[in-house]
Amino acid sequence: MPEFFATAPFEMEGVVAQELRDLGFQNVRPQSGKVAFDATFEQAFFVNLWSRTADRVLLHVGSFPAKTFDELFQGVQALPWETYLPRDAVFPVSGKCAKSTLMSVPDCQAITKKAVSERLKSHYGLAWMPETGARFAIDVHLHGDIAVLTIDTSGAGLAKRGYRTYNGDAPLRETLAAALLRLSFWYPDMPLCDPMCGTGTIAIEAAMIAADRAPGLNRSFDMEAWRLADDHSLAALRQQAQDRFLRDLKTEIFASDIDAKAVALTKKHVKLAGMDWKIQIRKSPFDQLSGLPDRGCFVANPPYGVRLMDRRQIETLYAQMGRWYRDYPFWSLTVFTACRDFERLFGARAQKKRRIFNGKLECGAYAYRGARREKPTET
Ligand SMILES: C[S@@+](CC[C@H](N)C(=O)[O-])C[C@H]1O[C@@H](n2cnc3c(N)ncnc32)[C@H](O)[C@@H]1O
Repeated sequence: MPEFFATAPFEMEGVVAQELRDLGFQNVRPQSGKVAFDATFEQAFFVNLWSRTADRVLLHVGSFPAKTFDELFQGVQALPWETYLPRDAVFPVSGKCAKSTLMSVPDCQAITKKAVSERLKSHYGLAWMPETGARFAIDVHLHGDIAVLTIDTSGAGLAKRGYRTYNGDAPLRETLAAALLRLSFWYPDMPLCDPMCGTGTIAIEAAMIAADRAPGLNRSFDMEAWRLADDHSLAALRQQAQDRFLRDLKTEIFASDIDAKAVALTKKHVKLAGMDWKIQIRKSPFDQLSGLPDRGCFVANPPYGVRLMDRRQIETLYAQMGRWYRDYPFWSLTVFTACRDFERLFGARAQKKRRIFNGKLECGAYAYRGARREKPTET
């Protein structure tokens, strides 16, 4: 069975690995920046359709040691590219080099392209590769003198669910928002509120989880054009995802922001995501919210002080958040921020903490559990 990699931001490999286990994969192997798993092409399509936290799904074609361009050329040419690429495949090559003897990314890309072409030309008896068919985006990654060759099954990154048009000031990637929800104390039938919703990502991801809506339902993936998986099986998986989408969602989901532009953007994105009848959106400062249920979970991504506010404003805002949160004893809270002394400013230690990279920026998720509500005793 082929090996695939579900790629993940640094420090998020564990979250992606757990999601893969929840999707039914047994032998998942977290590595730096990715999680390896064995799957059929139909199962890889299922991961593309359903993974909320992985960045991409890559097919692992092969790995080998390469300290010279010659070794790279020989190693790439020895891999069975014709198993995957048809005679008309379009195959752009991207590359990365880190801690390796070969450090020129453009040279590694050019050599890989040439070696794949030579292999395919000789296999298909062609003088040149026409490159008029489906896209197979190859990546050559050199790390510690090992070359890892993959083909991207996803196409656009999986964060692109197709609902965000304009990105606002500091939006959270969709995959990161979904990961935050997994790291929080929220579960899908519990009320959820993002009191600083920005472009609406957290609320939309929560609504999609609660409604069992596949994140990839409204988009396509490169591998769908490959003819390596059975078309009927892929159509059946899409249909099954349509059937699972619960259109009478009971979970209450709230999104609010102090900024009118953010509220307008959230409304637009919620509509594009097809979730407009599931999320209640308001313009309000977080500490003046009213009418929330008596229990639930807040998940918030306040300004960090890096771009949107200065340090003094951040100190005031986080202290204000701490006082406000104490008024909601039965609500849990998860905050995602790059502010290193968040807990001190907020005034309480988190029960769960997790370091997460948002691009290159080191951030943290701080989770606080609300008190449990006792069931009323029968008399
Ligand atoms: C980092 S952005 C949130 C981005 C959001 N997670 C997304 O994916 O687009 C922070 C948001 O907090 C909002 N905000 C700042 N102070 C606030 C306050 N006192 N009450 C409510 N919202 C506030 C800002 O208007 C901004 O939209």
